[in-house]
This record gives sequence, structure tokens and C-alpha cells, in this order.
Amino acid sequence: MSGKALNIGDTFPNFQANTSEGKVDFYDWMGDSWAILFSHPADYTPVCTTELGRVAALIPEFRKRGVKPIALSCDTVESHKGWIQDIKSFAKLDSFDYPIIADDKRELALKLNMLDKDELNSEGIPLTCRAVFVVDDKKKLRLSILYPATTGRNFDEILRVIDSLHLTQTKSVATPADWKQGGNCMVLPTVKAEDVPRLFPSGIETVEVPSGKHYLRITPQP
Ligand code: BEZ
Repeated sequence: MSGKALNIGDTFPNFQANTSEGKVDFYDWMGDSWAILFSHPADYTPVCTTELGRVAALIPEFRKRGVKPIALSCDTVESHKGWIQDIKSFAKLDSFDYPIIADDKRELALKLNMLDKDELNSEGIPLTCRAVFVVDDKKKLRLSILYPATTGRNFDEILRVIDSLHLTQTKSVATPADWKQGGNCMVLPTVKAEDVPRLFPSGIETVEVPSGKHYLRITPQP
């Protein structure tokens, strides 16, 4: 039986697990930080090796944003420790500074609904898909993305979403397509016209459109 699919805003469940850095209680390990939990089909696989190497190289970027990475793969701690040496060699890393959860019994994969029924190992057992969960400091799920095993993730995109999540939780804006840190933002539809000067002292541009509706309000990033 798999767990209930998590929706944005749900409390992310706590769990205990063995990892390449010892036993972890997820909430204790998070402390007051945000977390990104990302899953892998299996150790010693090519795409996963590129992904884990990329995240290790991006550790300073995650730290800057107060986000702790933790990976999950359906193999043992011993297997993870051996694989980490390959990842470091492949990605030319001096260190590998985040834990990989050993979910060799697929307990967490089931609990968090991460199994891909179309991707089977040589024994016909389903592997985990490439799930990404971003959990905030209140333990709420803020982002969830599922990728198929055959597509590696774009971690620049995940950092971009984290930047958007941080910005939009304190300012009355939403970030448009392809937004990047420092780019123009859209004023939230819920902001009343009379509140615009107070909330956006550097001004906004309202784009005229055929409908005559004034919902396309652009502002420099507050
Ligand atoms: C990989 O990491 O390369 C991979 C793993 C499982 C299925 C397909 C690709």
C-alpha cells in the first residue's frame, strides 16, 4: 500500500532513516532550515551520478538559501558509501557534504509515494522515480516535482523556485515565466489598486490588453 500523495501546504511527514552519514530523524536533522529531499532509482546508475555530483557542487548555493539537501536511493548504506567515491571522482569533488538515505526496503519510497510502476529493476521490483520535495522551516511541503528515471533534474531550476518561494512569502508578488533573481515580478491579483503606492513605492506598469482588464501589473523585484 502506498502512502497518500502529498499536496503543497501539507505537513511533510517526519521519518527516521539510515543514511550515509548515520541515523537521521528528518525533523531533527532539518532543525530550523528548509530541506530538499530528492530520490533516485538506484546506486551506481549514470544519470543519478550526475545529479548527486551536481547537488554536491551546489551546496554553497543551497546553504546561501538556508536549504539542506538530502538524497534517497533504494540501496544500502554500504552501497551508498562506495558510490559516493565514484560520484566524487566523476564530479571532481573534494568532499560530499550531504546524506543519502538508504531506503533498500523501499519503506520511505512507499510512504512518500515515490515508486515508478513503469521502471523496474532486474528483479521486476519498481524503482523510485526522481521525486523532488522542498520542505520549509515549518515542515510544510512547498514544492513537489516528479521526473521519470530517464530524465535528470535541472537543479538550477530548483534553486530558482526556492528563490521565488522565499521572495513571494514576504512580498505581494508572483514571479512570471522564466523569472530569475532580480527580474521583474507580477503584482498579485489580490492587491487592490489603492494599496499599490504603499506596497510598490518604485512603481508598477499596467499592461493594456484587449479585454481591458488591468491584471497584468509589472513591478521591479521588491
Ligand atoms: C540512471 O540513473 O541513469 C537511470 C536509472 C534508472 C533508469 C534509467 C536511468
